[in-house]
Amino acid sequence: MAPAPRIAVLVSGRGSNLQALLEAIAEGRLDAEIAGVFSDRPDAAALARVPPGLRWSANARGFPDRAAFDAALADAVAASAPDWVFCAGYMRILGEAFVRRFEGRLLNVHPSLLPRYKGLHTHARALEAGDAEHGASVHFVVPELDAGAVAAQVRIPVVAGDTPDTLAARLLPQEHRLVTAVMALAVAGRLAERDGQVLLDGQTLFSPLRLDSSGVLAPGSHG
Ligand code: GRF
Repeated sequence: MAPAPRIAVLVSGRGSNLQALLEAIAEGRLDAEIAGVFSDRPDAAALARVPPGLRWSANARGFPDRAAFDAALADAVAASAPDWVFCAGYMRILGEAFVRRFEGRLLNVHPSLLPRYKGLHTHARALEAGDAEHGASVHFVVPELDAGAVAAQVRIPVVAGDTPDTLAARLLPQEHRLVTAVMALAVAGRLAERDGQVLLDGQTLFSPLRLDSSGVLAPGSHG
Protein backbone atom coordinates (compact mmCIF):
# COMPACT_ATOMS: atom_id res chain seq x y z
CA MET A 1 0.00 0.00 0.00
CA ALA A 2 1.29 3.45 -0.87
CA PRO A 3 2.15 5.54 2.19
CA ALA A 4 -0.58 8.00 3.15
CA PRO A 5 -0.01 11.60 2.06
CA ARG A 6 1.44 13.71 4.84
CA ILE A 7 0.03 16.99 6.13
CA ALA A 8 2.08 19.39 8.24
CA VAL A 9 -0.21 21.64 10.29
CA LEU A 10 0.74 25.11 11.53
CA VAL A 11 -1.14 26.32 14.60
CA SER A 12 -1.11 29.13 17.15
CA GLY A 13 -4.19 28.45 19.28
CA ARG A 14 -6.76 25.92 20.36
CA GLY A 15 -6.49 23.69 17.29
CA SER A 16 -10.10 22.80 16.60
CA ASN A 17 -9.35 22.63 12.87
CA LEU A 18 -6.43 20.31 13.57
CA GLN A 19 -8.81 18.21 15.67
CA ALA A 20 -11.24 18.02 12.76
CA LEU A 21 -8.44 16.66 10.56
CA LEU A 22 -7.37 14.16 13.22
CA GLU A 23 -10.94 12.89 13.57
CA ALA A 24 -11.42 12.63 9.82
CA ILE A 25 -8.21 10.60 9.57
CA ALA A 26 -9.21 8.36 12.49
CA GLU A 27 -12.64 7.77 10.97
CA GLY A 28 -11.26 6.98 7.52
CA ARG A 29 -12.76 10.08 5.88
CA LEU A 30 -9.34 11.54 5.11
CA ASP A 31 -6.64 9.30 3.71
CA ALA A 32 -3.67 11.13 5.17
CA GLU A 33 -1.42 11.33 8.16
CA ILE A 34 -0.30 14.27 10.21
CA ALA A 35 3.41 14.78 9.51
CA GLY A 36 3.80 17.19 12.39
CA VAL A 37 2.21 20.11 14.20
CA PHE A 38 4.21 23.33 14.27
CA SER A 39 3.60 26.38 16.41
CA ASP A 40 4.98 29.82 17.09
CA ARG A 41 3.45 29.54 20.55
CA PRO A 42 4.91 26.82 22.76
CA ASP A 43 1.80 27.03 24.96
CA ALA A 44 -0.70 26.57 22.10
CA ALA A 45 -3.41 24.13 23.18
CA ALA A 46 -3.35 22.67 19.69
CA LEU A 47 0.03 21.05 20.32
CA ALA A 48 -1.41 18.74 22.96
CA ARG A 49 -3.72 17.17 20.40
CA VAL A 50 -0.85 15.13 18.93
CA PRO A 51 1.84 12.97 20.53
CA PRO A 52 5.05 14.72 21.65
CA GLY A 53 7.01 13.25 18.74
CA LEU A 54 4.84 15.17 16.29
CA ARG A 55 5.16 18.56 17.99
CA TRP A 56 7.51 21.41 17.17
CA SER A 57 7.30 24.86 18.67
CA ALA A 58 9.50 27.85 19.23
CA ASN A 59 8.93 31.32 20.51
CA ALA A 60 9.68 33.84 17.79
CA ARG A 61 11.09 36.21 20.42
CA GLY A 62 14.07 33.91 20.79
CA PHE A 63 15.14 34.64 17.21
CA PRO A 64 16.97 37.72 15.91
CA ASP A 65 14.27 38.51 13.34
CA ARG A 66 11.26 37.15 11.53
CA ALA A 67 13.34 35.66 8.75
CA ALA A 68 15.38 33.63 11.23
CA PHE A 69 12.26 32.29 12.92
CA ASP A 70 10.66 31.48 9.59
CA ALA A 71 13.80 29.66 8.44
CA ALA A 72 13.80 27.49 11.58
CA LEU A 73 10.10 26.78 11.12
CA ALA A 74 10.57 25.98 7.44
CA ASP A 75 13.44 23.60 8.20
CA ALA A 76 11.35 21.79 10.81
CA VAL A 77 8.35 21.57 8.47
CA ALA A 78 10.53 20.33 5.60
CA ALA A 79 12.11 17.71 7.87
CA SER A 80 8.65 16.23 8.44
CA ALA A 81 8.48 15.52 4.69
CA PRO A 82 4.99 16.90 4.13
CA ASP A 83 3.01 16.65 0.92
CA TRP A 84 0.86 19.59 2.07
CA VAL A 85 1.29 22.32 4.63
CA PHE A 86 -1.91 23.58 6.20
CA CYS A 87 -2.22 26.70 8.34
CA ALA A 88 -5.01 26.06 10.83
CA GLY A 89 -5.23 29.14 13.00
CA TYR A 90 -1.57 30.06 12.53
CA MET A 91 -1.48 33.71 13.52
CA ARG A 92 1.94 34.89 12.35
CA ILE A 93 2.41 36.22 8.88
CA LEU A 94 4.63 33.83 6.92
CA GLY A 95 7.52 35.55 5.18
CA GLU A 96 8.18 35.30 1.49
CA ALA A 97 11.01 32.76 1.84
CA PHE A 98 8.74 30.38 3.74
CA VAL A 99 5.91 30.81 1.27
CA ARG A 100 8.17 30.25 -1.75
CA ARG A 101 9.63 27.09 -0.20
CA PHE A 102 6.21 25.45 0.08
CA GLU A 103 4.46 27.29 -2.72
CA GLY A 104 1.61 25.41 -4.34
CA ARG A 105 1.16 23.09 -1.39
CA LEU A 106 0.58 25.67 1.32
CA LEU A 107 -3.05 26.28 2.32
CA ASN A 108 -4.71 28.44 4.97
CA VAL A 109 -8.21 28.59 6.39
CA HIS A 110 -9.58 32.07 6.95
CA PRO A 111 -12.89 32.89 8.62
CA SER A 112 -14.44 35.13 5.98
CA LEU A 113 -15.69 35.01 2.44
CA LEU A 114 -12.47 36.21 0.84
CA PRO A 115 -11.69 38.62 -0.72
CA ARG A 116 -13.86 40.23 1.94
CA TYR A 117 -12.25 40.80 5.36
CA LYS A 118 -8.63 39.85 5.10
CA GLY A 119 -6.87 39.98 8.46
CA LEU A 120 -8.47 40.03 11.88
CA HIS A 121 -11.96 40.55 13.41
CA THR A 122 -13.73 39.09 10.41
CA HIS A 123 -16.98 38.28 12.23
CA ALA A 124 -17.38 41.78 13.63
CA ARG A 125 -16.56 43.32 10.27
CA ALA A 126 -19.16 41.19 8.47
CA LEU A 127 -21.78 42.29 11.00
CA GLU A 128 -20.78 45.95 10.79
CA ALA A 129 -21.12 45.82 7.03
CA GLY A 130 -24.63 44.37 7.33
CA ASP A 131 -23.72 41.29 5.30
CA ALA A 132 -26.50 38.75 4.81
CA GLU A 133 -23.95 35.94 4.49
CA HIS A 134 -20.69 35.09 6.14
CA GLY A 135 -18.38 32.16 5.74
CA ALA A 136 -14.92 30.67 5.64
CA SER A 137 -12.37 30.23 2.86
CA VAL A 138 -9.48 27.88 2.23
CA HIS A 139 -6.89 29.53 0.04
CA PHE A 140 -3.38 28.97 -1.26
CA VAL A 141 -0.92 31.11 0.67
CA VAL A 142 1.04 33.87 -1.04
CA PRO A 143 3.29 36.43 0.65
CA GLU A 144 0.49 39.02 0.79
CA LEU A 145 -1.83 38.35 3.75
CA ASP A 146 -4.96 36.32 2.92
CA ALA A 147 -4.59 37.22 -0.75
CA GLY A 148 -3.89 33.85 -2.41
CA ALA A 149 -6.20 32.02 -4.78
CA VAL A 150 -9.30 30.77 -2.97
CA ALA A 151 -9.89 27.05 -3.44
CA ALA A 152 -13.17 26.65 -1.59
CA GLN A 153 -15.68 28.38 0.65
CA VAL A 154 -18.55 27.57 2.94
CA ARG A 155 -21.36 30.08 3.50
CA ILE A 156 -23.71 30.61 6.40
CA PRO A 157 -26.53 33.12 6.79
CA VAL A 158 -26.18 36.01 9.20
CA VAL A 159 -29.29 36.02 11.43
CA ALA A 160 -30.96 38.76 13.44
CA GLY A 161 -29.32 39.23 16.80
CA ASP A 162 -25.98 37.75 15.73
CA THR A 163 -22.93 38.94 17.61
CA PRO A 164 -19.33 38.28 16.58
CA ASP A 165 -19.34 35.40 19.06
CA THR A 166 -22.56 33.74 17.87
CA LEU A 167 -21.47 34.11 14.28
CA ALA A 168 -18.06 32.63 15.02
CA ALA A 169 -19.62 29.75 16.95
CA ARG A 170 -22.02 28.93 14.11
CA LEU A 171 -19.30 29.17 11.49
CA LEU A 172 -16.70 27.02 13.22
CA PRO A 173 -18.27 23.58 12.63
CA GLN A 174 -18.82 24.53 8.98
CA GLU A 175 -15.19 25.62 8.77
CA HIS A 176 -14.18 22.18 10.07
CA ARG A 177 -16.25 20.48 7.36
CA LEU A 178 -14.70 22.75 4.74
CA VAL A 179 -11.16 22.09 5.88
CA THR A 180 -11.66 18.34 5.91
CA ALA A 181 -13.25 18.33 2.46
CA VAL A 182 -10.55 20.51 0.91
CA MET A 183 -7.72 18.50 2.43
CA ALA A 184 -9.33 15.33 1.08
CA LEU A 185 -9.14 16.80 -2.43
CA ALA A 186 -5.61 18.02 -1.85
CA VAL A 187 -4.18 14.72 -0.62
CA ALA A 188 -5.96 12.90 -3.44
CA GLY A 189 -3.86 15.01 -5.83
CA ARG A 190 -6.91 16.74 -7.26
CA LEU A 191 -6.12 20.30 -6.20
CA ALA A 192 -3.34 22.50 -7.51
CA GLU A 193 -2.46 26.13 -7.99
CA ARG A 194 -0.85 27.64 -11.06
CA ASP A 195 -0.21 31.30 -11.85
CA GLY A 196 -2.58 32.43 -9.12
CA GLN A 197 -5.41 30.17 -10.22
CA VAL A 198 -6.81 27.06 -8.61
CA LEU A 199 -7.00 23.87 -10.64
CA LEU A 200 -9.33 21.00 -9.82
CA ASP A 201 -8.48 17.80 -11.68
CA GLY A 202 -6.31 19.93 -13.97
CA GLN A 203 -9.12 22.33 -14.87
CA THR A 204 -9.01 26.00 -13.90
CA LEU A 205 -11.68 27.03 -11.43
CA PHE A 206 -13.19 30.41 -12.21
CA SER A 207 -14.76 30.72 -8.77
CA PRO A 208 -14.11 28.92 -5.50
CA LEU A 209 -15.63 25.51 -4.87
CA ARG A 210 -18.59 25.69 -2.51
CA LEU A 211 -19.31 23.21 0.23
CA ASP A 212 -22.94 22.15 0.09
CA SER A 213 -25.02 20.90 3.01
CA SER A 214 -24.23 17.28 2.21
CA GLY A 215 -20.52 17.94 2.51
CA VAL A 216 -19.79 17.92 -1.21
CA LEU A 217 -17.47 20.50 -2.75
CA ALA A 218 -18.96 21.63 -6.03
CA PRO A 219 -18.01 24.37 -8.45
CA GLY A 220 -19.50 27.66 -7.25
CA SER A 221 -21.02 30.38 -9.28
CA HIS A 222 -20.63 34.11 -9.21
CA GLY A 223 -23.25 36.25 -7.54
C1 GRF B 1 -10.20 29.65 12.86
O1 GRF B 1 -11.38 30.38 12.89
C2 GRF B 1 -9.43 29.96 11.62
O2 GRF B 1 -10.23 30.24 10.52
C3 GRF B 1 -8.67 31.19 12.02
O3 GRF B 1 -8.33 30.96 13.35
C4 GRF B 1 -9.25 30.06 13.94
C5 GRF B 1 -8.45 28.92 14.45
O4 GRF B 1 -9.23 28.03 15.20
N1 GRF B 1 -7.59 31.46 11.12
P1 GRF B 1 -8.61 26.67 15.73
O5 GRF B 1 -7.28 26.99 16.42
O6 GRF B 1 -8.44 25.74 14.57
O7 GRF B 1 -9.62 26.18 16.72
